[in-house]
Amino acid sequence: MEDKNEWGSNLSFILAMIGSAVGLGNIWRYPYVLYSNGGGAFYIPYIVAILVMGIPFLILEYGVGYNFKSSFAKAIRKINPKFEYLGWFLPVAVFMIMIYYSAIMGWDAIYIVLSFFKGWGADPNAFFATTLLQSSDSYTTLTSFIPIIAIAMLVGWFIIWFISHRDLEEGLGKISKVLVPLLFVIMVLIVGFSLTLPGASVGLAQLFNPDWSLLGHFEIWMAAFGQIVFSLSLGMSIAFTYASYTKDDADLITNTISIALANSLFENFAALGVFSILGYMSVQSGTAVADLVTQGTGLVFIVYPTVFNVIGQWAYVLGPLFFITVYLAGLTSILSTVEPLSFSIQNKFGFTRNRTMTILCIVGALISMIYATAYGGSLLGFVDTFINQIALLFGVIVECIVFAWVFKAERLVDFLNSRSKTIKLGKWWLVIVKYVLPIFISIVWIGGMIDVVNNSSIDQLNFTIVSAALLLVASLVFTMRPAKNEEWDEIEERVEN
Ligand code: PHE
Repeated sequence: MEDKNEWGSNLSFILAMIGSAVGLGNIWRYPYVLYSNGGGAFYIPYIVAILVMGIPFLILEYGVGYNFKSSFAKAIRKINPKFEYLGWFLPVAVFMIMIYYSAIMGWDAIYIVLSFFKGWGADPNAFFATTLLQSSDSYTTLTSFIPIIAIAMLVGWFIIWFISHRDLEEGLGKISKVLVPLLFVIMVLIVGFSLTLPGASVGLAQLFNPDWSLLGHFEIWMAAFGQIVFSLSLGMSIAFTYASYTKDDADLITNTISIALANSLFENFAALGVFSILGYMSVQSGTAVADLVTQGTGLVFIVYPTVFNVIGQWAYVLGPLFFITVYLAGLTSILSTVEPLSFSIQNKFGFTRNRTMTILCIVGALISMIYATAYGGSLLGFVDTFINQIALLFGVIVECIVFAWVFKAERLVDFLNSRSKTIKLGKWWLVIVKYVLPIFISIVWIGGMIDVVNNSSIDQLNFTIVSAALLLVASLVFTMRPAKNEEWDEIEERVEN
């Protein structure tokens, strides 16, 4: 079974990791976060977050994954059988991301088609909210099904299944080697083109105009750390799983640095493109850039179509390119969200990769249909907040403690250093992963919880509780079901004790 879950080369591993990291977060989330947190001044907390958290944490997660060469749940159980539950919690939470990510990709697929003829009409806001999503904030509309969204999502699930049910290198490895470089090429084209638009400099001046006074504010530091957790897919058992698929002798430290650099390069590039286009639009229409920037789905599905409506013929080139980029970036990320749960199931229940992926895609597709309803948009917002602000950060803290303290990060140092051609780990690394990270991420987590409790409607709170219950119960079921695979408790380690 092992060879079905192995990268063909280090390149496949790096590109698949970059594919996981580069996603919707880089295209819609980052430009907004940069803009609203001090512009140019944001680079200080951002770089600190990468150096103090992103890279050290990824090295830890890779190191442990590489050491065990097995699924997340199995390795956690090996570290301490009492923790097996945590070994399922994170993979299930990440699978929940997969399910709602599939809805955003479904919307995007519809926009790819629309962008060829500006099918969103003169009022993109009304089109998105009313015509397409039929958005409603009453949960009674969970029963009003929207077939076009369902079809777009099912097409996405089919593509995901088609790639993931194959052996790792045959599917994900090959596709990453094509899509990830392609993504960078398209991005360069979009940015190169956007920079030549008249007014681009207006947008860029707005973006980078540093507001140094914000550096003293706690929020911009939280925003930077939050962005890095999400954008690098940190502590989500994905990096762990990808590293466990590597063959012998990978230089994990150098890989980590390359991945973090590529991810930042991509998102900063995206920000250049986004703000050049917004600057052009602002000059054309007289709307202030500040009024155009909204976060998330709003930016992608409302602001962009509005921009494309204003910029004339160029929209027929930029529009499709843009929505295709979002789709491909989403695809390489969503493919990573199923790996931790899939590999854990294969290890515990002895299913093949093919069978596990087929079952997970069917289950995921069925559950995802709740997002193809008029309540889907609201629900997606709730689940996204719950997963990102509460569940994942909690998982990250516990993962950090289990890896750094229980497994003992010290054990990895010599092993990782002996393979590293660039930086060597020293005491500083241990201080970061054992003390700085757990404390800092706990603070961010508590801040996020308070935010959710204070700013949620009753419906949001109710659905948050339902999502939490589903997550807890599903993890419990996987933990309690007896293993079907005799090798479940057998594990080899690469690092010496
Ligand atoms: N890192 C991805 C992005 O920037 C999002 C993601 C989060 C992907 C969690 C997988 C898991 O969009």
